[in-house]
Amino acid sequence: MRARRSAGDRRRTRRRLGSAAVLLGALASTAGAYAVFATASGASDTTSSAADIAAGRQLFENSCITCHGANLEGVEGRGVSLVGTGGAAVYFQVSTGRMPLAQQGAYAERKPAKYSEKEIEQLAAYVQHYGGGPDIPQGELKGPDSSIADGGTLFRLNCASCHGATFHGAPLSAGKVAPSLWEATDKQIYTAMLSGPESMPVFTDNEITPQQKRAIIAYVQTLKASQDPGGHGIDRIGPVSEAIVIWVVGVGALMGFILWIGAKTG
Ligand code: HEC
Ligand code: HEC
Repeated sequence: MRARRSAGDRRRTRRRLGSAAVLLGALASTAGAYAVFATASGASDTTSSAADIAAGRQLFENSCITCHGANLEGVEGRGVSLVGTGGAAVYFQVSTGRMPLAQQGAYAERKPAKYSEKEIEQLAAYVQHYGGGPDIPQGELKGPDSSIADGGTLFRLNCASCHGATFHGAPLSAGKVAPSLWEATDKQIYTAMLSGPESMPVFTDNEITPQQKRAIIAYVQTLKASQDPGGHGIDRIGPVSEAIVIWVVGVGALMGFILWIGAKTG
């Protein structure tokens, strides 16, 4: 009787340890996957290194130098000076596919980007390092939900006259167009405000504070999301990693619970 019970106990203990090991394995692999995710999405938050600047120089020499010059000074009749334009302008221009300009005199319109996010950051780091100016903003660029109403007021005051109340864009004078904002990411909206492409004014941090810029982004992106279910999913890595954190924490809690049940019934 006693021997049988202790054999049963051992079996139970083994079973318990077995399921704990399976859960531990699952937990470890999710944690690993999350770590990979976190470094991939957080890479833009690191300050640019000498290696990034050197890589940016290489890219610049390959595809920008003919129009913008070896010292960012611009080339007469080809491209403007980039001294003082800053990394934000480079991010905006290259991530929206406007640069590199295909041919002289062509209107720089939105196209698929020619470079990866990493390469764009390297180009921006190079121009920022040698030319100075407003840099690429870091961290969360979309304000909290509580800022949406303020963002709406600011948008109507500063942006709607050109881009329209529903961001679909509108013709401007002299055959120019204020484009639709429907494809723009948080970072593109922010860097557009910082750099004022073409006939768009620059909105310095004195005119529209960083907090107000984030409120405008919250307003634009929230309104877009509410009217466009299912679209524009690719750049939203944030909620994905949040879900993974919740999952990892959840599995941990579940494992603790199972061990606790095991201890109670065993
Ligand atoms: C064929 C010539 C040409 C090439 C190549 C080119 N650009 Fe430009 N770039 C221009 C012209 C012209 C403008 C100004 C007109 C405009 O914005 O449409 C400009 C504007 C810019 C601006 C905005 C400047 C400002 O004051 O806001 C940035 C930033 C920029 N280019 C970066 C780049 C980068 C980075 C590359 C390489 C990846 C590149 N350009 C390649 C011609 C060129
Ligand atoms: C005077 C008119 C004008 C005003 C005001 C204006 N913009 Fe623009 N905006 C433009 C023009 C013109 C472009 C296109 C520039 C180009 O193609 O190089 C543009 C481009 C943009 C883009 C890039 C869209 C894309 O996906 O290609 C964004 C984002 C943007 N503006 C946001 C804003 C925000 C936010 C405000 C208000 C804080 C604002 N703009 C105010 C004229 C304006």
